[in-house]
Amino acid sequence: MFISIEYQPRLVENSLAFKKSSTRNNYICDPRIERGGMGKLHFFLFSIISFAIGSCANSDSEDDQKDGFKAVADVHSYANIEDIRTEHLHLDLEVDFERKKIEGVARHEMSDHKTTTAIFDVKALNIQKVTLGKDDEIGTDFEIGDEDEILGRPLTVKIKPDTKYINIYYSTTDETEALDWLDPILTTGKKHPFMYTQGQAILTRSWIPIQDSPTNRITYSADVKVPQDLMAVMSASNPTKKSATGEYHFEMKQPIPAYLIAIAVGDLTYTKLGDRSGVYSEPELAEACGYEFADLPKMVDAAEKLYGDYQWDQFDMVILPYSFPFGGMENPRLTFANPTLLAGDQSLVSVVAHELAHSWSGNLVTNATWNDFWLNEGFTVYFENRIMEALYGEEIANIHKFIEFQDLTATVEDMENGDHPEDTHLKLHLDDRDPDEGMSDIAYVKGAFFLRTLESKVGRKKFDAFLKAYFTKHAFETITTEDFVEYLRTELLEPNNIKFNVEEWIYQPGIPDNCIEVHSKRLEYMAELAKEVNEGEMIFIGSGANLERNDFITQEWVAFIRGLSDSISPQTMAELDEKLAFSQSANRVIKLEWFQLAIRTGYKSARPYMREHLVKIGRRWLVEGIYETLMESDDPSDQEFARSVFDEAKEHYHYVTRSTVQEILDAH
Ligand code: BES
Ligand code: ZN
Repeated sequence: MFISIEYQPRLVENSLAFKKSSTRNNYICDPRIERGGMGKLHFFLFSIISFAIGSCANSDSEDDQKDGFKAVADVHSYANIEDIRTEHLHLDLEVDFERKKIEGVARHEMSDHKTTTAIFDVKALNIQKVTLGKDDEIGTDFEIGDEDEILGRPLTVKIKPDTKYINIYYSTTDETEALDWLDPILTTGKKHPFMYTQGQAILTRSWIPIQDSPTNRITYSADVKVPQDLMAVMSASNPTKKSATGEYHFEMKQPIPAYLIAIAVGDLTYTKLGDRSGVYSEPELAEACGYEFADLPKMVDAAEKLYGDYQWDQFDMVILPYSFPFGGMENPRLTFANPTLLAGDQSLVSVVAHELAHSWSGNLVTNATWNDFWLNEGFTVYFENRIMEALYGEEIANIHKFIEFQDLTATVEDMENGDHPEDTHLKLHLDDRDPDEGMSDIAYVKGAFFLRTLESKVGRKKFDAFLKAYFTKHAFETITTEDFVEYLRTELLEPNNIKFNVEEWIYQPGIPDNCIEVHSKRLEYMAELAKEVNEGEMIFIGSGANLERNDFITQEWVAFIRGLSDSISPQTMAELDEKLAFSQSANRVIKLEWFQLAIRTGYKSARPYMREHLVKIGRRWLVEGIYETLMESDDPSDQEFARSVFDEAKEHYHYVTRSTVQEILDAH
């Protein structure tokens, strides 16, 4: 609870969300009431209002969409966004590397409203004071409710029905979940510190006091001061050179949801790759970036050809330190990316295609709530693969699809036997749960296969026209699953007289029977090779075929390793490793597959390399499967190994990865 002495909160009792606190002599927002009782009340009110104006959740979004705001209840935000919402945010911030804090003011310019309270989301923030008016003319009262472990706290500000500007003075704390502060030793250059944010899904509230719901879109600007030897970049207009003073100004003129506000600060240099694309990285990585991402301009062109103009002017990337918990994050104008993409052979560029695709699916047309997350990711995986096909051909695209499908079937099987079998539905119900739990192969791959199956039914030409119209019609809007289902019915299925099991795909478990099949000759060949090894023949790596690591691309080796049996001997593993050097591969995706097999086959010589991987890499997907396999092993020394590595690594992980791995360890 952080309340300034200057502006002691006074009682503001105007909604059911407030109840008398037994521990404090003031009133608080009770998250349980807010999320249960109040959530329902909101929903009830929405229903009445929707009914009265003749639009409901199923209606075409044109009717209920106002300036990028969608009137649907979001269980993952406290904001009273239906009463009052931010239209523009100006951030005035200083990034203090000494104290590892961001400090400053969030100046919210609000929509017209008639309310006397504005509720924002905050988590682990120190709120110093709140003022009203463009020039801070009026001081006001505020209060901060109890903490909910997932949602954080509601910050309730007392305002007047004509209040246009709400200015929140704050600083971040050591508990912030969005921020990662890296000492120089954890960067490539090892001379300068680094800091970046990760906002999706609901972490923005831990570095900005904000209405942290994708149901609303805002424009933003920022004035940011950083140490003079560092450069700051944001999901906005960006500098290409360091400023002499360490001061930077940013503008994001297109309205975006809160989760896409992001900043990175470090020793950065810009490598231009085309008219509207380039990559920011530490100088030491600039050359490697230039090679690895050379196709970026071609990707943007291919994407535009498929589904319409790129709406964000510039498509740049910034390469963050190894701790970045994702492969990529689609922050508009500036994708944040993990240095593990620098494989040296352009074999991991599908992640770039993926983040680029989000410029349409996700950033232009945004999931209204985290229960509709598949609308962001399923469409993006579909679109990503179309970009890959356009640039590298059908076989490469199929290779990716095949691997995805393997992942999906494994995930469905796991989930069906887990605590939440209903999580295999595309439309989720994550009430009372962390939206992060929706980030699974269901949203990504089942979502993409739903679209691929639809495509195969209606034909590519019609399907592409439909998708292009969808992105154009709903540009800068937020959308629910129900909106999409309705749009699909009226714009594609009915006009073409097509029957399709849409309901089953979206609201039922598992993978429907009509899901398309994918084949890849090249991966089938790799499976054959693996079978030979399983059957005890090592000829193909010996004098026979004499294969080399460079004969196949990353995904082919992944298929090969997946084809190897858990019962092959540690001796065979050692022979393979000697010949193909998987344990020492520069490619972290191959290492991920190999280390899991090493654990299952008891090939302990891989451990030093596994330790190096787990300590250096913070990209969650590249480590969580390894920790899980270690914890599931029958050999107790594997669990000991996992715990000891995590002890060493956890300081280097971002909160997102640290908390996931901690959960894996705690579950055993
Ligand atoms: N937007 C996601 C990352 C994300 C999702 C962060 C949910 C927080 C909550 C990003 O576009 C993504 O999917 N990244 C993947 C790329 C892969 C699927 C090609 C990753 O990082 O692995
Ligand atoms: Zn994505």
